Amino acid sequence: MFPPLTRAMAKQLYIETVGCQMNMLDSELVVASLRKQGYEVVDSPKRADAILFNTCSVRQHAEDKIYSALGRLKHAKKYNPGKIIGVIGCMAQKDQRLIFDRAPYVDLVVGPGQLHQIPELIQRVEAGGGQQLEVSLDRKGGSRSQVEQSFESYDPLRDPQMRPTPFQAFVRIMIGCDKFCTYCIVPSVRGPEQSRPPAHILAEARQLADEGCREITLLGQTVNSYKYADGGRTWRLADLLAELHEIDGIARIKFVTNYPKDMTDELLTAVRDLDKVSPYLHVPAQSGSNRMLARMKRGYTVEEYRDMLARVRATVPEATVTSDFIVGFCGETEDDFQQTVELVRASRFKNSFIFKYSERPGTKSVQLYPDDVPEDVKKRRNNELLAVQNAISEEDNQPLIGRTVEVLVEGPSKNAARDDDGSDALQLVGRTHCDRIAVFDGNRRQIGQLLDVAVYDANAFTLFASVVTAHVGPEVFQL
Ligand code: 5AD
Ligand code: SF4
Repeated sequence: MFPPLTRAMAKQLYIETVGCQMNMLDSELVVASLRKQGYEVVDSPKRADAILFNTCSVRQHAEDKIYSALGRLKHAKKYNPGKIIGVIGCMAQKDQRLIFDRAPYVDLVVGPGQLHQIPELIQRVEAGGGQQLEVSLDRKGGSRSQVEQSFESYDPLRDPQMRPTPFQAFVRIMIGCDKFCTYCIVPSVRGPEQSRPPAHILAEARQLADEGCREITLLGQTVNSYKYADGGRTWRLADLLAELHEIDGIARIKFVTNYPKDMTDELLTAVRDLDKVSPYLHVPAQSGSNRMLARMKRGYTVEEYRDMLARVRATVPEATVTSDFIVGFCGETEDDFQQTVELVRASRFKNSFIFKYSERPGTKSVQLYPDDVPEDVKKRRNNELLAVQNAISEEDNQPLIGRTVEVLVEGPSKNAARDDDGSDALQLVGRTHCDRIAVFDGNRRQIGQLLDVAVYDANAFTLFASVVTAHVGPEVFQL
């Protein structure tokens, strides 16, 4: 029998996560496994016994930030020689030993396919085993199945405190990507596309529901390419949604990120017919120019993207659609850019994430094309596109004023969290089924509930609302 861990005995873990939701989920799993080893999570690296950076490689900027954070830890071991410093996730897979070269005091470099080994690797460092490097095979480093096996998915351990909120959780349904868009590092750092067995996903969702989770977000780099052959049956995302819909307790199901070419009618019908599935689709277009789309090797034309969007609007008229765009990709002219502006104008996305092209070593575009759009031009195009999108977001939020919408209450709003004095009455933030953000005055006990709120004002990003009491307005919109 082990005595219970007292606070003084618990080791302290500081974990910093950058990048996408996949990384947030990975951090949750890493924390869950380290808690078993007696770690508690703290919010400052200063006195932590272990510091982990869960990293992203999609853009140079994200990597620069991690290398500067590592630079600041240069003397961290002076006062605590036993402190463990680890770099995990995509940048660990991409840079491998280079991280030890640039920051020799790093103890662990662990790729996204080896995260389950972290507790053991930390023990090895503690036992004097020196620097530990665990990464997957390069995509050309073996047969497909060898490479696949070197990227292990690892999902059963969960940690409610590391979720966005205790009642919202991510569920991974796929790992990796096989699309090889020319600008993108993901297929090399996250490995081949692999779908998880439906039985595992369903069991995990049931467990989350039992723990009080109301909303699950299915994750995959191209989530709608999900495909799993099981006996005589092939499961697609639509089949999975239908089964997840039956789980009591789960009120909302979302899924990100979608690949435009795999947005089948069958999937759209499932979104239309299954009440719990949010009418919210993130389908990155990346560009409105066919010349750029071809250079990016996205596999569709802008006409095909528009047709896909028309099918979305026809099948699920109330759905909000969001997109990603890269501006300043290799060879992008003003005319190409204007075609992107045109696509944004015509598509009326709820919002768009806009990125300046960032050249990634090892990707196809580096070999094929010079990164020839100057930084100031990228910046201007980014701002211009964002302004067009924001004007649309604001316009499209206006019709919601005067309506009642249902929100899942996520917690104190940013302002309330900053000035939190512990009182029960506070400003809350919630999200509609369509992923719109609403703030309203409420009570702490409403956190985690589905609540009707009446919208009285709106800007591009936020609905301002008040909680509806039972006798007001019978009609609630799932907007
Ligand atoms: N440069 C800039 N943005 C990129 N993205 C992916 N790779 C790059 C890159 N090299 C963007 C895409 C993708 C989002 C997650 O990041 O828009 O959809
Ligand atoms: Fe990257 Fe393209 Fe795969 Fe998305 S679909 S992860 S952009 S390669």
